[in-house]
Amino acid sequence: MQLLRVVASAPAKIILFGEHFVVYGEPAIVMAIDKRAYASAEIRKDKRIYINSADLGMSGFFEGENFHEERGSQAARRTLEPLKITVQKVLERSKRNVGISVEVRSGIPVAAGLGSSAAVATAVAVAVGRVLDLELSKEEIFHVSYEAERYVHGTPSGIDPTISTYGGVLLYRKDKGFSQIRVKGEIPLVIGDTGVKRSTGDLVANVHEVSKQYPSVIKPLLKIGGKIALRAVEALETGDLHTLGELMNINHGLLCAVSVSDVSLERLIYAARGADALGAKLTGAGGGGCMIALAEPDKLVRVVAAIESVGGKAFVVRMADEGVRIED
Ligand code: MEV
Repeated sequence: MQLLRVVASAPAKIILFGEHFVVYGEPAIVMAIDKRAYASAEIRKDKRIYINSADLGMSGFFEGENFHEERGSQAARRTLEPLKITVQKVLERSKRNVGISVEVRSGIPVAAGLGSSAAVATAVAVAVGRVLDLELSKEEIFHVSYEAERYVHGTPSGIDPTISTYGGVLLYRKDKGFSQIRVKGEIPLVIGDTGVKRSTGDLVANVHEVSKQYPSVIKPLLKIGGKIALRAVEALETGDLHTLGELMNINHGLLCAVSVSDVSLERLIYAARGADALGAKLTGAGGGGCMIALAEPDKLVRVVAAIESVGGKAFVVRMADEGVRIED
C-alpha cells in the first residue's frame, strides 16, 4: 500500500571496545542505546529533495546539482548533503523519478561519538524506502547509510551504520561482518558528554598519520586492542562487570597512546573512576565528544554526579535491542 507519510527511527550507539582499531580490521564491540533519531518522508509533486533538520536549525532543497538553503547558511549544504545522498540512493533503487521531503528529529548529541549521523541516515533510508513502497533488506539499508557515512567521515569502518541498522550488542569486524553478543544481565553505564565537538574524519586521519610514522610500534598496539575486545566478549557473556571495567581502562590507555583522548575527556574519566566506577574510557572518535563509565547499579547516580561536578553532561543509558524500525 502506498503511504503518504512514513516515520522511521534508528538508535544511537556507544562503542564499548575497539574504536579506531576497528578501522584497521580489529574486532570491536558496539551497543545500540535507548536514544533514537527520527526521520519522516513524503513524496513531493516536484523533483526536489527537500531536507529539514529541526535540531540543527537547517533546511533547504537540492535540485539537480544546486542547493537552495531555506534556513541556516550555505554551510547547511555540507551538513545536509549526506542525507541527500541517502535519499538519492534509495530513489535509484526504486527507479521512481519523484521528489522527496524529509524531516529529521534527533535527541542524539551531534559530533559527540554517539553515531548520530549514521542513526539519522539509517532512519532516512528506511522512511524513504517505505514511502516509495520499496522493501529494503537490512543489508541494503546498511549499504545506503554507509554511503552517507563515507561522505561525512572519509574512511569509516561501517560500525555505526551496522549498529543503527541491527541494534543489540555486536562484535563487529570490518569486511568480515558482525555477530550478536548474548549479554548476561544488564550493563550499567553512564555516558558523559564533554560538550566538545569534533570531527571523526580528522581523528581517524590523525591515527593513520601516527601509524604511518611508527608502524612497528602502532601495529602491535592495534592487535592488543583487538585482543581486549575478544576478552571482553567473554566478560559480557558471563556478566563479569569487574573484568569489563578493567578492560575498559586498559582500552582507554591504548586510545591515549594513539592520541585521541584530550583533557576534556580525561577530566570526566578520572571523575568517574574517583566515584568508584568499575572502568571508564572515551567512546567513539575521541578528541572531546563522549566518555562512558561502567558502575555497579547502586553507584550510577554517584558517577553521574561526579561527571557533572567537573562540567560534563551525564546520563544513564540502556541497551536498545531494536535497530532501525518504522514508527506507527
Ligand atoms: C566512530 O564512531 C568510530 C571510529 O572507529 C571510526 C569508524 O569506525 O568508522 C573512530
